[in-house]
Amino acid sequence: MRVLALLDGTIADPQAPLFRADDLGVMRGDGIFETILIADRKPRELGPHLDRLEHSAALLQLRLPERAAWERAVRAVIDNWPWDTDPQMAVKLVCTRGVEGDDNPNGFAMGMQIEADTLRKRSEGVAAVTLERGYAPDLMERAPWLLLSAKTLSYAVNMAAMREAAARGADEVIFTATDGSVLEGPTSTVVLAQGHTLLTTPPSLGILKGTTQGALFRAAEKAGWQTRVTKFPASALFESDGVWLASSVRLMTQVRSIDGIEIKADADLHAEIDRLYESNY
Ligand SMILES: Cc1ncc(COP(=O)(O)O)c(C=O)c1O
Repeated sequence: MRVLALLDGTIADPQAPLFRADDLGVMRGDGIFETILIADRKPRELGPHLDRLEHSAALLQLRLPERAAWERAVRAVIDNWPWDTDPQMAVKLVCTRGVEGDDNPNGFAMGMQIEADTLRKRSEGVAAVTLERGYAPDLMERAPWLLLSAKTLSYAVNMAAMREAAARGADEVIFTATDGSVLEGPTSTVVLAQGHTLLTTPPSLGILKGTTQGALFRAAEKAGWQTRVTKFPASALFESDGVWLASSVRLMTQVRSIDGIEIKADADLHAEIDRLYESNY
């Protein structure tokens, strides 16, 4: 099931071609995207997602269509989604640079069903492996042209890492920096619980600012938890009371093992983390 909307709010045939073969998004992965959860017709964290889309566009020096156009396209997808059969969906916003020399970016919003594998991960938790990402934790500041905090369309490395995880019999990846500190997953933010403190990696280490982690921390602070955005080594993953991979569609997915070693994965604590996150909506 797909519902495709253009930025003027019109609905298009998702099976018909939309892009020219020489669009730089196709030729070079030169573009940006966001994936937003819509639950019961309501977008979650739409503001933070559009803020991040603007941040990515600024890093790529991409002339992003106005915010109202993205909001209109999301609304059109919501209005045309079969809510009776699918109470949740993911809307993907995509903006490519367009054809070389035209300065005319192309964008769309596409609603998609939540995949069965994602639902399984949400309910059963996941086995993760740590994989090297190959950059130092201070690289983002030294080398902004590497676009480390942008959500670009160039996700081939992220997808290759997921295939490597599958080859090792795992579901997910936790990337580490050259000094062994924890970065993020290929499509998720890492969150740890230590007592009543939640930890996550700072975006300044060259990772995406997670909107799901942001929502969890907002609710946790209101409920009296401490939150820390700080660099931590991979060893902390094994010493914490719980580890989650957070993302808009996967939500708070509990990690059950890392590199084949079982870690603490308490069901009650998971339920509490889930409740905190859901209390936002
Ligand atoms: C690399 C990366 N980090 C983190 C996230 C989590 O971000 P969010 O919670 O905003 O979906 C994603 C989402 O897909 C991602 O691709």
